[in-house]
Amino acid sequence: MNFQRLPKVELHLHLDCGLSYKVVSKIDPSVTRESYLREFIAPAKCANLADFLTRAVKGYKLMQTKEQLQLVVYDLFNQLAASNTLYAEIRFAPLQHLEKGLRPYEVVAATEAATAIAVAETGIEARLILCTLRHFTEEQSMETVKLAQQFKESYVAGFDIAADEAGFPVINHINAFKYAKEKGIHCTAHAGEAKGAESVWETLRYFGPTRIGHGVRSIEDPKLVEHLKKHNIHLEICPSCNVQIGLYDTYHEHPVDQLYRAGVSLSINTDAPTIVDITLTKEYQRLQEVFGWTMDDFYTCNVYALQAAFIPVELKDKLLMKLKAGYNIH
Ligand code: ADE
Ligand code: ZN
Repeated sequence: MNFQRLPKVELHLHLDCGLSYKVVSKIDPSVTRESYLREFIAPAKCANLADFLTRAVKGYKLMQTKEQLQLVVYDLFNQLAASNTLYAEIRFAPLQHLEKGLRPYEVVAATEAATAIAVAETGIEARLILCTLRHFTEEQSMETVKLAQQFKESYVAGFDIAADEAGFPVINHINAFKYAKEKGIHCTAHAGEAKGAESVWETLRYFGPTRIGHGVRSIEDPKLVEHLKKHNIHLEICPSCNVQIGLYDTYHEHPVDQLYRAGVSLSINTDAPTIVDITLTKEYQRLQEVFGWTMDDFYTCNVYALQAAFIPVELKDKLLMKLKAGYNIH
């Protein structure tokens, strides 16, 4: 199977965790290839999610001006093209890009404008998701969701909560998700990664997202798996990332195949291509090697991803046609 040529839909991809060496050295020429490998990419095994996330700081520190944000967006689209990605949802936390004086509105406007140009130039469809972070205050979460509202008619399509699920409770973020619901903003939320099934239940109850970022530990509670199926909650699964943060010792032990066979709607994603040192093409190859996934399986997961995407049905239909063509489905 030629994994590179398979068209792909990626829903879970952090802009600040995907900088190539090329863009890093352009923004900061003092970074050598050796220091990039050492500091931007995490070891094959991290102590936990918090340890893994210390690498993300390296990325967003280099994304503090409009020009830097633009460069990083174009760099990511190059990588999307290399994996033959048809459609991507790219997420970032606007409030992490204020260190050189940009205002939150300017951060989103610059990233959105760069995305519009990259979509037009590459033909790859994309949308942006704005993230609040677990350690943020209620005010910061509200500010982030209000940006998603202000930019609603643009390439900004949704709202998420990322960062360390195990270290910080939901309380500061309940009102932001309530606001998102009132305004009809699409929501996803990281959960069931650093904590177990109870965290997915809590996230569904307090945040009400239609998708869960990761959610792999849902497998620990059969009632939750049934609930996800019944309510068509989509899991954005990032297998290599989960193995790297130590959720599973090996790829073989990852529950992606079990969840898929159980009939849960799920997609395959990289999460953080630089930190994980992965491409979506390599992720597909691993699934084939470890679980024997076929063209049919990849096609099904991409259809699930499109169904769960934060875009209008007309665009879903258009992308589905391209997906079908790529998988020889008539
Ligand atoms: N930010 C980047 N990668 C993440 C992950 N795997 N979990 C939570 N926040 C993240
Ligand atoms: Zn993530």
